[in-house]
This record gives sequence, structure tokens and C-alpha cells, in this order.
Amino acid sequence: MTAFTIENLNLAYGEHVALKNINLLIPKQQITAFIGPSGCGKSTLMKTLNRMNDFVPSCTITGSVLLEGEDIYQMKDVDNLRKKVGMVFQKANAFQMSIFDNIAYGIKTHESLNRDEMKQRVEEALRQAVLWDEVKDRLHKSALSLSGGQQQRLCIARALAVKPDILLMDESTSSLDPISTAKIEELAMTLKARYTIVMVTHNMQQAARVSDQTAFFLNGKLIECQPTAQLFSLPEQEETANYISGRFG
Ligand SMILES: Nc1ncnc2c1ncn2[C@@H]1O[C@H](COP(=O)(O)OP(=O)(O)OP(=O)(O)O)[C@@H](O)[C@H]1O
Ligand SMILES: [Mg+2]
Repeated sequence: MTAFTIENLNLAYGEHVALKNINLLIPKQQITAFIGPSGCGKSTLMKTLNRMNDFVPSCTITGSVLLEGEDIYQMKDVDNLRKKVGMVFQKANAFQMSIFDNIAYGIKTHESLNRDEMKQRVEEALRQAVLWDEVKDRLHKSALSLSGGQQQRLCIARALAVKPDILLMDESTSSLDPISTAKIEELAMTLKARYTIVMVTHNMQQAARVSDQTAFFLNGKLIECQPTAQLFSLPEQEETANYISGRFG
């Protein structure tokens, strides 16, 4: 089963072509990793999946991105698309409000729940993000009092609270210590039972540990996408072999 079908996708920021004829399938309930050197277009491609590039005026796109067969660039209800396709950024962006309100905030923009339902939903999201036990006694304290790793899990909880189908994680562990990183990797592996996950990572060990398929990009081109074990052991393209062995550049 396929979540996203990306076909002949080209994207430019003004004159600068950032994605060149990308064709890629993102399967449901699996983890797809995007790897490649800085500036190769990983974040750009990820952002096309929930139309975050709509906010960049100079950005032009041709080709198509289908979500379960529906062209997302033809969708009228972009809020609903972004509810289905949640995103967690590289740096935790907890809001300056309580832990509870950080999560309730996103839910309120899409649904009107009563007090009890809201409490339940917030707890469920915090449990899913493996943060509940650490924060259950301080839900009404500022989110900014949490550690970096806790704030990142809070952002994951916030994304999960609106019940997306797909979770996009753009280098979500790059500023975290190994223990927090391991927690988030474990979390991603449990979440894929229910969610489709796309993660950008600079850490090839991380891609190898957690993802099912890995896509390697270079200069805006998709060089190859393979089952992860295969890409790291027997890449088809020389560029991939050079990159994963550190002989790049
Ligand atoms: N808003 C923007 N306006 C203009 N150019 C942009 C914009 N965002 C990205 N670019 C350019 O598009 C190219 C791809 O950028 P992108 O952020 O997708 O790379 P990346 O693979 O995610 O890199 P990194 O690993 O450093 O995060 C780069 O050359 C970048 O400078
Ligand atoms: Mg990036």
C-alpha cells in the first residue's frame, strides 16, 4: 500500500532548481529515510508532502504528489492536508505556554473537544510520545522548562495529537543526546505500526537502524531508493557507494 506517489516532480526557488524530476513511492506504515549531503533537497522534498512550500512565494512546482491517489496540489482544503500530514522540525519549537496547552493548541484548530475529551487526548499523545511519565505531574508548567529531548518529544506529541496519518521528521534528533535520540528512534519504530513516517537524517547509522527504505539524493536528484539493508550493503549507483562509504566530495 502506498501513501505518497511522487511523479516527475520538479521544484525551483526562483531560478534555483532544487528538485529535478523526482519519482518516488512512499509506502504506508513504513519508515522512509531521506539521506544526502547538505543542500541536496531533502527538506524541500519533505515539505512538498504537506505543501509547506506554499509559504515560499518564489517556489514553483511541476509534476505531481498524490496522497492515496489524490493530487495534493489540487486540494482545496490545505489545512486538512496538514492535519493528515504532520511535521516535526529539526529544532524543537515548543510554544511559550504550558505543556498541556502546547498539545491542546493544535487539537483546537481542528476539533472542538470538551474538557474531559481534551484531557484524554493530551494524555494519549504524551503517552505515545513516551513523555507522559516525565511530565504528568507538571502539565501546567511552562513547556520551556523541559529539556531539549523532552521538548522534541513534546513536539512529536503535538503532531500526533491531531491524529495524522503521516509523520514527517526533519532531522528531529540532530540536536539531541544519544539517550534522547534512542528514545525517539524507538518511538518512530513503534509508531510505524500506525503511521507512515518519512525522516530526513544526516546520521547514516540512524537511517540504517530505523528505516525500511532509504532514498539517497544528490544535487536535487534522487540517485536511488532501495530497501535500507540493500542500499547500505549493495547500492546500485556509484554516487551512493561513494557517499555511504565517506568517499564523497
Ligand atoms: N526558501 C528557500 N528559498 C530559496 N532557496 C531555498 C529555500 N529553501 C531551500 N533553498 C535551496 O534549495 C536547495 C535545497 O535545500 P534543502 O533545504 O532542501 O536542502 P537539504 O538537503 O535539506 O539540506 P540540509 O541537509 O542542509 O538541511 C539548497 O540549495 C537551498 O539553498
Ligand atoms: Mg534540510
